[in-house]
Amino acid sequence: MKSRCFFYKKKNYSIVSNGVVTKKSYSNIALIKYWGKRKNKIQIPMNSSISYSLEKVYTVTKLIYSLKEIKKKRSIKIFFSGKEKTNFLPKIFEFFHRISFYCSYLRYFNFVIKTDNTFPHSSGIASSASSMSALALCIMEIEKKLDSSLKEAFFLKKASFLARLGSGSACRSIYPGLVVWGKHKSIKGSNNLYSIPYPYKIHPIFKKIWDTILVIDEEPKKILSSKGHQLMNHHPYAKERLKFANRNMDQLISILKIGDFPKFGELIEHESLNLHAMIMTSNPYFLWMRPNTLHVLHKVWDFRKQSKKNIYFTLDAGANVHLLYPIQEKKVIIRWIYSELIYYCKKIIESFCQ
Ligand code: PMV
Repeated sequence: MKSRCFFYKKKNYSIVSNGVVTKKSYSNIALIKYWGKRKNKIQIPMNSSISYSLEKVYTVTKLIYSLKEIKKKRSIKIFFSGKEKTNFLPKIFEFFHRISFYCSYLRYFNFVIKTDNTFPHSSGIASSASSMSALALCIMEIEKKLDSSLKEAFFLKKASFLARLGSGSACRSIYPGLVVWGKHKSIKGSNNLYSIPYPYKIHPIFKKIWDTILVIDEEPKKILSSKGHQLMNHHPYAKERLKFANRNMDQLISILKIGDFPKFGELIEHESLNLHAMIMTSNPYFLWMRPNTLHVLHKVWDFRKQSKKNIYFTLDAGANVHLLYPIQEKKVIIRWIYSELIYYCKKIIESFCQ
């Protein structure tokens, strides 16, 4: 693993000018969830996590940069779907503050950020992963323009490192496919500073997975994930959660290799219920699920038992349900979803786990 200093470059860039860069980045759904940060560290996870990037659920960000006087305060404007969003600014300023040590060239510029999502705005789908990673990729694109010797592998590693400082799970959105973040003894190259593409054998069944996202609640979350992470610091079950997540990762490695879909499905369901159990038993406590979430979970269990189809769920930090299944079984499953589950949700979003 590289140390943080690996990403620091003290350089005086002689040829700087105005410019525009545009980048796209995916949202992701974690199979083993990142939950909890190490105390007194910036965005260092308690446990390692792994996710699929979602091909059809992404953000496109255009970053316009213009020269300013170095000593003058930086100005940033942000537009989301064409509308100026001043309420996003504190998070963005905090992000630029955190990364400025590693990207000294930022001091030359003012910025205008124009961003758009492919998924509906009020869908309860976390956009911080795709938006922070798209922004990190834009910043690296500027670095590349200033330093032509920059290699592709470094570009991606540093983009992931920067994205992490914006939002932890965003660092996994830099790569397609299965991506790991956080040190795990069984995964070579895994580390806490940036993500890596999953480095081991993946059975073909796990290369063609479909995700149907059931949007059950469109309202913004009552408790932000940043607060939820904090609550793990004094959580009575934190140690057990860490052991559970580590064991799940070990099991997942062999499941991914042999291609056992039912085992995979049981593991992701158990893991997501474990995440929800953590928030229900924190102090203060919260409940992310809504009545329709529970209806859907029971329906999925009943349908699976009776049809023998490989359909399993995972949950994020909210009420929405991700249904994962092999693409070969899509025809029957999707017909069932649209006839039986449509009543429980506000929207349905489809994506290939690429
Ligand atoms: O990246 P954050 O701070 O929004 O945390 C994300 C946490 C989960 O979505 C619940 C799990 C994960 O690994 O994506």
